Amino acid sequence: MSSRSQAVAKAEEYYDSTEADSFYSNVWGGEDIHIGLYQAPDEAIAPASRRTVSTMAERIAGLGPDSRVIDIGAGYGGAARYLAATYGCHVTCLNLSTTQNAINEDKNAEAGLTGRIDVLHGSFEDIPTDDAGFDLAWSQDAILHSGNRPRVLDETHRVLKPGGQFIFTDPMQSDDCPPGVLQPILDRIHLETLGSIAFYRDALGTRGFEEVAVLPLLDQLRTHYTRVGEDLKNRYAEIITLCGQDYVDNMLQGLDRWVEGADAGYLAWGILHFRKS
Ligand SMILES: C[S@@+](CC[C@H](N)C(=O)[O-])C[C@H]1O[C@@H](n2cnc3c(N)ncnc32)[C@H](O)[C@@H]1O
Repeated sequence: MSSRSQAVAKAEEYYDSTEADSFYSNVWGGEDIHIGLYQAPDEAIAPASRRTVSTMAERIAGLGPDSRVIDIGAGYGGAARYLAATYGCHVTCLNLSTTQNAINEDKNAEAGLTGRIDVLHGSFEDIPTDDAGFDLAWSQDAILHSGNRPRVLDETHRVLKPGGQFIFTDPMQSDDCPPGVLQPILDRIHLETLGSIAFYRDALGTRGFEEVAVLPLLDQLRTHYTRVGEDLKNRYAEIITLCGQDYVDNMLQGLDRWVEGADAGYLAWGILHFRKS
């Protein structure tokens, strides 16, 4: 697809790789692969990660069986299964990883949710669905992988009905981050830039979205990456047999960079909620 950015090709290669799939699927539970909301710094990763999903869902008034939701960058579909099982809504999972999509479909069948969840292969820079088909666009920690975020926002706007809502989380840089300081993080995930809260406010406002709420929660990013690093170190011998030592060592270094970036105040993360006018 010629309109795809270079970053999309890199994300596809990464999330389809055996190492990444082993890591997220076996080690991380293959359900929620995003930053958690921790009630205590030593809380387990899975319940904290599920709390991010439930907290976002509770913010959407009127979510129910008639709601049509699209999750852009849906991973293994954990949020989709939660939304479909809890609220009865219909969810379209858009993801460019065929590896994750196959697992998502198996899990939906096991949960008896196949009729309420569609799994679609494609990129959020070029969403393969009609205009104005969804009441809610949802995304967790995925848009950072785009090399063309304005286009992702154009596409999100296009596929939402008038009055439709957009709720998402994204690892971002702080609004006043000095140039160059995040290069080690960007290089590791093959990106040129990260978004910021100021970027999303401005870009979404320009596209006719009104702000419902912006909840900055950088401390949760710091706790999450610290907890993932702790778990990796505690289970190092087991995990290198699943994902390989190079992958695990590289991941541990990357997690340290995220924690340092958070401590320096160069990063941002939070729940962003907008409505299409
Ligand atoms: C950190 S994972 C988060 C997955 C899921 N949202 C969750 O929270 O469990 C990032 C996801 O974004 C997907 N992704 C990255 N770039 C994408 C793109 N251009 N279009 C669609 N999905 C993309 C990856 O395949 C991966 O599933």
